[in-house]
Amino acid sequence: RAKAQLLDGKRISREILTELRSEIDAWHAIGRKKPHLSVVLVGNNPASLSYVGNKLKAAKSAGITSETIRLPESISQSDLLSLLESLNTNRNVDGILVQFPLPPHISERAVCDTVSPQKDVDGFHVESMGHLCQGKEGFYPCTPLGIMELLKRSGVDTFGKNAVVCGRSKNVGMPTAMLMHADGCGDATTTICHRHTPNKQMRAFVGLADILITAVGQPGLITADMVRDGVVVVDVGITRRFDSAKNAFVLKGDVDFEGVSQKASFITPVPGGVGPMTVCMLIKNTFTAARKLRG
Ligand code: GUN
Repeated sequence: RAKAQLLDGKRISREILTELRSEIDAWHAIGRKKPHLSVVLVGNNPASLSYVGNKLKAAKSAGITSETIRLPESISQSDLLSLLESLNTNRNVDGILVQFPLPPHISERAVCDTVSPQKDVDGFHVESMGHLCQGKEGFYPCTPLGIMELLKRSGVDTFGKNAVVCGRSKNVGMPTAMLMHADGCGDATTTICHRHTPNKQMRAFVGLADILITAVGQPGLITADMVRDGVVVVDVGITRRFDSAKNAFVLKGDVDFEGVSQKASFITPVPGGVGPMTVCMLIKNTFTAARKLRG
């Protein structure tokens, strides 16, 4: 059987960034200051440093200005919230992103809900989550948006299909399932499997999937024997592992790519699948925030 077609997030994200660049240039040309994204990074988590680097690079390529506010691991929650309040009222700032994870003494929920909903480009504020659940206009989380855009631009139709989402995290699994089943969005019959789904049940559900989305963070979770012929596979898992043969860190998805790509019709690579799409949607949300705030 022919190997699966790649869901090429890297290539598609470049196309989207080019499109955004020309829209932002046109907006700038009629006298608006370029959109500005403030990124808050607490501590020195190497994965976070790498993600933030990707976000800043994409912002620059789309013509968005940005700043990184780096804070020590020891910062108190109240100091972090005060900083966010000042960004909320700063007219030069259109979008605010606090990179996760945060140290355990800081409540991520409190942080999400302190960012002004008008500047909530990550879509993590409880008000944004409410809009998502209601199918109302608002900032939706970047990874679920990126997945839907990746499928759309690759010609994958989700309407009436069986979609299975593995993982129920508040920032990825849950909102992805929300978009995938929603009226006028994914319109798929959507099942969520999670840590309490018995193994046998999970195999049954995964085996029925036309579209399989995994956001667990467990390399090797999905193997070829579990999936249908022709399945569309979107791998959102990213586990950073030290590869002693390469003497370097490598990124591993949840899916056994070698095996599953023999059966799938479409599959994302890791890296180069969903990751770059997430970054694109962040840039898109930042431009939307700027237009709403400053016409
Ligand atoms: N950490 C890992 N992914 C993300 C993301 O998309 N946004 C934020 N804020 N933190 C993250």
